[in-house]
Amino acid sequence: MPILMNFRQKSKFMPFNVLDFFSGCGGLSYGLERAGFNIVAGIDDNLPALNTFKHNHRKSIPIKLDLGKAGALDTIRERIGENTKIDLIVGGPPCQGFSLTGPRNLDDKRNSLYMSMLEAVKIFKPRAFLLENVKGMKTLYKGQVLEEIKEKFQAEGYLVDASLLDAANFGVPQHRHRLFIMGVKSKTKHFKWWPDQTHGDENWVTCGDAISDLPSLKNSIGSEESKYEHETKTEYQKKMRNDSNVLYNHLGTRHKQFVIDVINQVPEGGNWKNLPPGVGESRKFNEAWTRYHRNYPSRTIDTGHRNHFHYKWNRVPTIRENARLQSFPDTFEFLGTKTQQNKQVGNAVPPLLAKAIGEKLMEYFVGDKPMNEVLKQIYIESNKNMDNPRLSEAIGTMLEQQTEIRAELKKRIKTPGAVAIGIFASLAGTAIEAIVPGASVLQGFSQTLRG
Ligand SMILES: C[S@@+](CC[C@H](N)C(=O)[O-])C[C@H]1O[C@@H](n2cnc3c(N)ncnc32)[C@H](O)[C@@H]1O
Repeated sequence: MPILMNFRQKSKFMPFNVLDFFSGCGGLSYGLERAGFNIVAGIDDNLPALNTFKHNHRKSIPIKLDLGKAGALDTIRERIGENTKIDLIVGGPPCQGFSLTGPRNLDDKRNSLYMSMLEAVKIFKPRAFLLENVKGMKTLYKGQVLEEIKEKFQAEGYLVDASLLDAANFGVPQHRHRLFIMGVKSKTKHFKWWPDQTHGDENWVTCGDAISDLPSLKNSIGSEESKYEHETKTEYQKKMRNDSNVLYNHLGTRHKQFVIDVINQVPEGGNWKNLPPGVGESRKFNEAWTRYHRNYPSRTIDTGHRNHFHYKWNRVPTIRENARLQSFPDTFEFLGTKTQQNKQVGNAVPPLLAKAIGEKLMEYFVGDKPMNEVLKQIYIESNKNMDNPRLSEAIGTMLEQQTEIRAELKKRIKTPGAVAIGIFASLAGTAIEAIVPGASVLQGFSQTLRG
């Protein structure tokens, strides 16, 4: 990440600046950062969540603020600096007001917290915004709430679209349906609102794929900082481990023996209904008591985490296991008490989903930028491959040299235009392939441009 930002600055690429409203611990921010955005600040009124945000977004400003209070936007302006330009405003206003489980009251103050984002959009005039909420918001009051939100943003000059996305369709080992509302100032020709689904029945990332390498905690409860005991077994685990040497937040729960005995009787993929008659009846079971299945994505991770059990072990999942099911890498450490951590994990937008949406938004931003096709593609591809520092570095070096290469091409070829771009693209692809064997990210578009 620093390398990529570094080369952007060196090569005169201005970062695209984001304000994250109701940022929580920063799941949305983390994914957008991976898509190449610069998170200027995260704003939330919950200190433990902001502490986690700060810990994992060292370059961003954590702002503790009640966004429902007058003057909140002035404080933000002051904290980020008068002259900081904001390109994108994102946020997940609290969902209880809209939620199917919470009180559905149009006058609920929380229902109108999104208004702080509308006010922010009026003041900062970003080129785009993104709002996230529970799926219940789509149909709430027969769709009136959604329509009202769309109209209010349209009145500010944005084209607005909404889509219900399931995180599992984007490689997250969890079915989590969330409504996203996106607004852009004007659509560029090739801009598609939403990312294409990459996963389905054939290739879900499953619970087993996600957490089978983590210590069982069968003989010990573990600790906030521990060690890995096994090698990774899947590509997903490798990606999530992110070269971490320390295993954070993998701390088990001490269940009473009778709870263990009851959990033991819930079959893999089953729930409380599978318990034999008489078992646990006096315990007022929550209907949601469910055991994950190793061969399927998990159910939606909530903020309590006491309703779901590990697919194999007779206990509730640890914070780290749920963080993995939410697609947080192991390097993302959660701070606060266990209850606070549970809340942060369960509230978050899965970073992988946020990244997929962010990449679409990045296409919109780059599409608007006055730069040639090759640079656009390099920019987009480099965002997709941010986790590969060697590739980022290679692209960086290449971008630094691009002025020289183009000057040279101009001298040699009298008609720079398409031919020059084609040759440059070809050089770019070959150079990167040579530096990072197998990284053929630029081959496709260089072919296209050559052809
Ligand atoms: C659904 S969570 C957002 C999760 C976040 N987008 C993520 O990806 O991690 C909503 C957040 O809104 C915060 N919040 C609730 N009411 C607020 C208020 N009045 N002012 C500021 N933040 C508030 C909560 O503390 C919570 O962290």
